[in-house]
Amino acid sequence: MPPTIHVTQPIPENGLNLLRAEANVIFGPAGRSPTSAELADRVAGVDAVLCFVADPIDANVLAAAARTCRVVANYGVGVDNIDLDAATRLGIQVTNTPDVLTDATADLAFALILAVARDLKGAALLAAGGAWTGIAPTLIFGCDVAGKTLGIVGGGRIGTAVARRGRGFDMPVLYTSRTEKPALTQLGARRIPLDELLALADFISLHVSLNMDTRGLIGRSELARMKPTAFLINTSRGAVVDEPALIAALHARTIAGAGLDVYANEPRIPRELLESPNVVCLPHIGSATRETRARMAEVAACNVLACLRGDVPPNPVNRPMPRQH
Ligand code: DGY
Repeated sequence: MPPTIHVTQPIPENGLNLLRAEANVIFGPAGRSPTSAELADRVAGVDAVLCFVADPIDANVLAAAARTCRVVANYGVGVDNIDLDAATRLGIQVTNTPDVLTDATADLAFALILAVARDLKGAALLAAGGAWTGIAPTLIFGCDVAGKTLGIVGGGRIGTAVARRGRGFDMPVLYTSRTEKPALTQLGARRIPLDELLALADFISLHVSLNMDTRGLIGRSELARMKPTAFLINTSRGAVVDEPALIAALHARTIAGAGLDVYANEPRIPRELLESPNVVCLPHIGSATRETRARMAEVAACNVLACLRGDVPPNPVNRPMPRQH
C-alpha cells in the first residue's frame, strides 16, 4: 500500500506531483488554516503531514498522528506553529524550507522600507481617490532611503539578504545577533547591542524566529529607544513585537511608522494598524512569489519523501527520539 500524506492546504502542483508519484495525497479544506481539533481528526493514520506555517501542529495533533506519522514537513521556514518538543519526544521528524524563500522575503522587507519611507500608501490612495490636482512642490513628502542607517535584528539568511539590499542603497548597516556573522561583516555591517541599534537606526527590520527568547522582543521600552523619525519593519513573526505597545508608539508618534507583513493573532490585523496613515499592512506574503512558492513546494515534498524512504531529509529541524514501535 502506498503511504498516505495529509496536505493541510493545496500547495503548487509541482510539489503535489512529486508526492503523488509515491503516495496517496489527501487534503484538508482549501482556503483556510485548519483548527487544531480538525487537524487532530484528520492526521490519525497518515504517514506524513505537509503543513503551512499558520497550521497549529500542537501536542494534541502530534499525539493523534504519532502511531503512524514519520514526518511533519512545514511549507515555510518558521516552525513556531509546531510543538517541536512533542514531535521530538514522539519520534516525529520536523522539516522546513529554508534558503529558497530568502530572496523573496528580503525583497518584501525592502519593499516595506521603500513603501513607508515614500508614503506609498498615502500616495496610492491620493491617486486612486480622484482628488489629485497635479504635481505640487510639497505634495507627499517622504524621506530618503539612500544613506540612511539600516538596523537588522537577527543575522540569519533573510537578515543578511536585507542587509545586502541595504548596501545596494548605500545604507550603513548595523545588526544585532548572538554571534558575529562573517557574511554581514563582509558587507561592512557592524554588530552592536540591540539597545544601541534601536537608538541609531532609521529603519529597523526584524528577522528573528519566534521562540521564548524573542516573543515580545520589541516592546514599550524598545520602541521608546527608537528615533521619532525611525520606522519599524516586521516580516518575521507578529508576536516578536508587542502589538499594543506598537499601536501606542504609533499613536503618540514616538516612531515615524511601520511596515508590517505579520501580526500577533493572524489573520486579525488590529484596526488601529490598518487605519494608521503611517503604517503599511500586508497579509503575510513574505515568500509569496510564484517561483518561490514552487521551490518551497518541491523542497517540502522532497523532505516528506526522504523521510518516508527512511532517509535523512534535506532540511531537518529536530532530532526525533527513537520510536517505540
Ligand atoms: C515562513 O516561511 O516562515 C514565512 O513566514 C512564510 O511566508
